[in-house]
Amino acid sequence: MVMSTTIPSPTKARVLIIGATGFIGKFVAEASLLTAHPTYLLLRPPPLVPSKDVIVKTFQEKGAIVIHGAINNKDFMEKILKEYEIDIVISAIGAEGLLDQLTLVEAMKSVKTIKRFLASEFGHDVDRADPVEPGLTMYKEKRLVRRAVEQSGVPYTNICCNSIASWPYYDNCHPSQLPPPLDQLQIYGHGDVKAYFVDGIDIGKFTMKVVDDVRTVNKNVHFRPSNNCYSINELASLWEMKTGRTIPRVTISEDDLLAVAAENCKPRSIVASFTHDIFIRGCQVNFKIDGVDDVEISTLYPDEAFRSLEDCFEGFALMINDNTYKVEHKIMATKSVLEAVPITASCG
Ligand SMILES: NC(=O)c1ccc[n+]([C@@H]2O[C@H](COP(=O)([O-])OP(=O)(O)OC[C@H]3O[C@@H](n4cnc5c(N)ncnc54)[C@H](OP(=O)(O)O)[C@@H]3O)[C@@H](O)[C@H]2O)c1
Repeated sequence: MVMSTTIPSPTKARVLIIGATGFIGKFVAEASLLTAHPTYLLLRPPPLVPSKDVIVKTFQEKGAIVIHGAINNKDFMEKILKEYEIDIVISAIGAEGLLDQLTLVEAMKSVKTIKRFLASEFGHDVDRADPVEPGLTMYKEKRLVRRAVEQSGVPYTNICCNSIASWPYYDNCHPSQLPPPLDQLQIYGHGDVKAYFVDGIDIGKFTMKVVDDVRTVNKNVHFRPSNNCYSINELASLWEMKTGRTIPRVTISEDDLLAVAAENCKPRSIVASFTHDIFIRGCQVNFKIDGVDDVEISTLYPDEAFRSLEDCFEGFALMINDNTYKVEHKIMATKSVLEAVPITASCG
């Protein structure tokens, strides 16, 4: 992520981010700093693992102010919300801490000055999606937080950004910032169910656009970029086209996904249950965004483009051709078979 330093503007809303060292939180913190919001990061007390320490130092160099403490300490949270005159709270806390947000909600309710809260959502619309266990337990926790926020009276926005733009591994075996596989492509079910893929930088960028947009108060904001709606078959073809290779396809059936989910081995089984919900049940595309509580992001910012999945996969293809990556991942100079497959990226 290459972003320039921007001086925080005193006229912009003051943003507190929880989970800024995490996968999603990093994108949000980058975007908050880039858009010149005075940015405060709530971190758990040190020590941090070295890789996270580097991330935090980079944010501090860009103007972020670090606060150490725990979100499940109501008095502490009230104190810092008042002391730093926080306007907007964004939580990107990981799965294990979702219910800690209930105390945070109590603190925000007490101080009465929070103009917007974004809970740790950043995925599906959890009131509509209905994964099998163990993913369901996580969604029940997110639903509980939604209800608590609604009852608190704190203005909120739920970010339903759908899938991250990368290969959707079902078994959590591969970091999403790495390229899709070259050995085999796993196709879920018949492979024709569509999903939306959003680049992490766009998740951060559009999150920071909605935080003080009055049109998004108490709404679910759905990210459905029309150029990034792909089935897994189309995703596989896109990757083959970008790499100039033909890669064997292996079917992972609905029963296979359910069996991995039923193992209840976390996080692998949680990811399998979400994969089943996305690519078998179609949880991202099986409803219309027409409720009074819902808004699609492109209708809010029609002139703002999302990075295309084609471009993301182009980036992944450049990575695998990079010599350092080749050595680290033992990619051999195999003869490639070019099979250009046309991609139709449209929502059905
Ligand atoms: N749409 C998608 O494809 C997608 C992908 C991934 C995640 N998500 C969603 O995004 C959200 C964030 O997930 P993630 O994967 O980014 O999480 P993550 O990488 O596990 O990071 C979690 C962050 O929360 C912090 N944290 C955890 N417990 C905390 C506590 N009690 N107090 C303060 N900070 C705490 C961690 O801090 P430490 O550094 O101290 O551990 C870390 O910064 C979740 O709601 C998840 O469901 C969506």
